[in-house]
Amino acid sequence: MSLQKLTLRHREKLLNQRSLVLWFTGLSGSGKTTLSDAMEEELFKREYKTYILDGDKIRDGLCKDLGFSEEDRTENIRRVGEVANLMRDSGLIVLSAFISPFAKDREVVRETIGAENLVRIFVDCPLEVCEQRDVKGLYKKARSGEIKKFTGISSPFEIPEESELVLKTAEHSIEELVGTILEFILPKIKLVSE
Ligand SMILES: Nc1ncnc2c1ncn2[C@@H]1O[C@H](COP(=O)(O)OP(=O)(O)OP(=O)(O)O)[C@@H](O)[C@H]1O
Ligand SMILES: [Mg+2]
Repeated sequence: MSLQKLTLRHREKLLNQRSLVLWFTGLSGSGKTTLSDAMEEELFKREYKTYILDGDKIRDGLCKDLGFSEEDRTENIRRVGEVANLMRDSGLIVLSAFISPFAKDREVVRETIGAENLVRIFVDCPLEVCEQRDVKGLYKKARSGEIKKFTGISSPFEIPEESELVLKTAEHSIEELVGTILEFILPKIKLVSE
């Protein structure tokens, strides 16, 4: 038997897909979790192997030592960028849903993962709509001062200038937007035999 070192290419062949990271960024309540969950379901139906890294879960575990200061947000995103990249190197399609409010942190993620392995998705929704949705009741708490340093209210969100996809969740349905993402990524994750 050959002792050739196993590489990503071997793993991709076994999994019958090209690996990729989809990175959803946007305000709280913009729709990152909703869209990444819906996307994963569509990919699962097509037999792609995926995994979701979601802000809420990661902050309960891997990053539970971190808060919401600028330094901690930076460290949160740096760690997730590294984890997403390891999972990508294992051959998976990784869906990563984090507010990721700072441009410099998103740039670190791009450098870690590599532009060719990454699809940056700006989940674009006006603050007023996110606040009206207030899925978790956090905007109310941020407005009353109960929560400090809340993105969009008392901590900045730097609008991404370069994204592969911009999804306007106040203007299009979840189904429509999932269709948009699928159309963009299916050619990238399909394994073409060499
Ligand atoms: N077109 C749409 N795309 C995505 N979500 C939508 C859309 N229209 C309405 N919604 C609703 O908006 C809400 C988005 O909440 P979601 O938890 O996905 O936000 P989030 O970006 O993950 O926030 P957080 O950063 O707090 O985790 C959901 O209740 C969802 O049903
Ligand atoms: Mg979420």
